[in-house]
Amino acid sequence: MFKPELNLAKQIIDKYGTPIYVTDTQTIKDKSSLIKNAFSNLNMKIFYAIKANFNPHIVKIIKNSGIYGIDAVSVNEIILALELGYTSEQIIFTPSNPSDDDMLQVGKLNILQNLGSISEIKRFGKMFKGCEISIRICPELGAGESKKVTTGNIESKFGLSISEIDKVKTICNKYNIKIVGIHSHIGSGFYNSKIFKQSVTAVCNIAKKFKYIKFLDFGGGFGVQYNPNNIPINLNDFATSIKYTINKFTKSYKHPIELRIEPGKFLVSQSTVLLTRITTIKEKGNITFVGVDSGFHNLIRPAMYNAYHHIINLSKQNKNKKLVQVVGNVCESGDIFNKKIKLNDPQEGDILAILTTGGYGSSMSSNYNLHNFAPEVLVTDRKFKLIKKKQTFEQIMSNFIDYK
Ligand SMILES: Cc1ncc(COP(=O)(O)O)c(C=O)c1O
Repeated sequence: MFKPELNLAKQIIDKYGTPIYVTDTQTIKDKSSLIKNAFSNLNMKIFYAIKANFNPHIVKIIKNSGIYGIDAVSVNEIILALELGYTSEQIIFTPSNPSDDDMLQVGKLNILQNLGSISEIKRFGKMFKGCEISIRICPELGAGESKKVTTGNIESKFGLSISEIDKVKTICNKYNIKIVGIHSHIGSGFYNSKIFKQSVTAVCNIAKKFKYIKFLDFGGGFGVQYNPNNIPINLNDFATSIKYTINKFTKSYKHPIELRIEPGKFLVSQSTVLLTRITTIKEKGNITFVGVDSGFHNLIRPAMYNAYHHIINLSKQNKNKKLVQVVGNVCESGDIFNKKIKLNDPQEGDILAILTTGGYGSSMSSNYNLHNFAPEVLVTDRKFKLIKKKQTFEQIMSNFIDYK
């Protein structure tokens, strides 16, 4: 888990201020090797879920680390992947409620669409008769770090329910569509291989019903160690748990089958910290509030998912710990980074590092309260460079027409 040394953090802040995201190149390379090695016996192709962090400099590191492709959820993510040199075969489009226009644009780019509803398959069929698709199934098993990111359960909006598969076949016959992939993603941030293994079985069982399957895609969601006191997941256990089911399926299927996974947060989360400065300390109702110059416009995971992010006071090496609540500068009482965290002797002006913020941190930023997006810096071999500029007031306002 990356944490910058105080000296480096000071140099970065002196130049670019706070709040600022700082990402470590080596951590991304290490995570890429870890996941490639864990699944190498299964010959798994890895597609990075670019939604986790779409900073092109970070995507390039992932690409150069040998992660094969991109799982994209919007047309813009696809355009970026193509700009970064991915070929159409290296990109899969797994949209949520795509419009006809989305599907038309992606189809024209020759990118495989991974569709999760009867409506989408019908609309695709009318536009692209005789073409190939992949289908996203709902394995009716969900897991994830919050209900909001648990996707494989029957109540979630994602995927085709297993009972719809016969109907899917009828529609595909009507439009001469070939189903070449079966996909499932049970959710984001699971720590136990059991449900993942069950979802792999569900995917194999559905795949048996189709003749032209080229690949099986088991999604992403591999849990990240957000709290340094927790034990990290063992990816080798995940790979071992699915080996038997997969080998049994691939041996029985008539054609060779490619296997895929789509990790997002596993590759990027631990590579990044959000540096923020303490502006205000106050005691109220038995709570010590430590107020900082960032908020949920920069990092929404704690407010949105109740997610734990460890925080350290980079400015203090002593062990004089104080139990505090770290809160942001957005005008909402839910703008809390950590409700109960022990910080070394926090004082106004100190620099805090909010850890494990590389996935769904910057990529979920907003301009709420007219706050700016935070700039981003990349650290490689102890040297740093700016990879995203601080947004200016003029940039935020530039889309508003004739308001002055
Ligand atoms: C279809 C799909 N694949 C992969 C992912 C990546 O998940 P994670 O970042 O938890 O690995 C997501 C994220 O929600 C997703 O929706």
